[in-house]
Amino acid sequence: MASAAPKAPPLPLLRALAWFRDGLAALHRRMVPGHIALLELSTIGYLTQATCAAAELGIADALADGPRQPADLARAVGADADALRRLMRLLVSGGVFAQRRDGSYQLTAISQSLRGDAAVSLRDLFLLLGNDLHRRTWTHLTDSVRHGRSQWPELAGMGFFEYAEQHPEVGEVFDRAMTSVSSLASEPLQAAYDFGHFASIVDIGGGRGSLLVDILERHPSLRGTVFDLPRVVESLPEQLLGPGLTGRLTFESGSFFDSVPKGSDAYLLKHIVHDWGDEDAERILRTVRTAMEAEARLLIIEIVMPEHHRPHPGKVIDLEMLVNTQGGRERTQTEFGNLLSRSGFVLTRVVHTAAPDCVIEAHPAW
Ligand SMILES: C[S@@+](CC[C@H](N)C(=O)[O-])C[C@H]1O[C@@H](n2cnc3c(N)ncnc32)[C@H](O)[C@@H]1O
Repeated sequence: MASAAPKAPPLPLLRALAWFRDGLAALHRRMVPGHIALLELSTIGYLTQATCAAAELGIADALADGPRQPADLARAVGADADALRRLMRLLVSGGVFAQRRDGSYQLTAISQSLRGDAAVSLRDLFLLLGNDLHRRTWTHLTDSVRHGRSQWPELAGMGFFEYAEQHPEVGEVFDRAMTSVSSLASEPLQAAYDFGHFASIVDIGGGRGSLLVDILERHPSLRGTVFDLPRVVESLPEQLLGPGLTGRLTFESGSFFDSVPKGSDAYLLKHIVHDWGDEDAERILRTVRTAMEAEARLLIIEIVMPEHHRPHPGKVIDLEMLVNTQGGRERTQTEFGNLLSRSGFVLTRVVHTAAPDCVIEAHPAW
């Protein structure tokens, strides 16, 4: 296992670095002729796909014990030596891997996180991004924009969650990718928000439970329940319930459109609301509201879409929702406030974290 999850840098520092990076990029775009800036845009996606290939080949894992010569690496990952050298040339130019003077390849801080055993591993996210079906939904972005909806029904005859239910291998890739993204957000979320002042938390649509496990490990008196579809909850490995969690962590299955566990202090919904359009999101929130006591808190963990024109991950993920979900979208703070009040809640505060996610806290309207 690689070293423990690194502490997130302070939010103001991250904001200053992003502001500086975006400013330099904007300056560059203004200085070069328009067609050059456009040509540069055409190459961005290739580095992502090359990183996906590196994840699939397991290159970062093969370099975990130290640098390797190209031929040795090609043998280890089962690749054609010349083609691998060409893949690595692009990835080295993008800083994903490094090449030493003796020709061997080694990990950089970036590719450390592509290892399957890294404390914050994004390997499974890249396996999802490179997945053929996922790629196809983006190929149909134009149709999604034209018709205002995902093309999943046209491509697969059903929506994504239904498809994942019927194709466990796809569901598995998705669940692992979500766990991967959660590992990224866990530390910043816990640094910014004190989950320890609750006695019990239900994680609605909690997937494989990784965030709740992290929270319970940090707060030994807290109890928690992961609630998700039967497909997800019933396939969870036993070892998730480490010794310190026995009796404190339970799993329940069902649909958040029907009912969710009652009587918990806090109801956490991470990356759930953005999967759905306003009508469905309201139905989910009303189901949660019905299960809550008046003093309980709702904690929605999502990106809050900024109103500025600078780059922000939410702008990409919003389109990810357009092409992959039936009505899902990222929302501004005002949109969250409106959705919450229509669903019987009052938004109390929005806590920003060093990750793109915020904690949107609400209580039931009296
Ligand atoms: C985008 S994932 C988020 C998972 C997890 N909260 C996280 O942030 O990693 C959405 C989750 O909602 C679950 N889900 C979808 N439809 C559901 C339903 N009707 N009832 C309960 N869970 C559902 C999925 O199985 C999946 O785990």
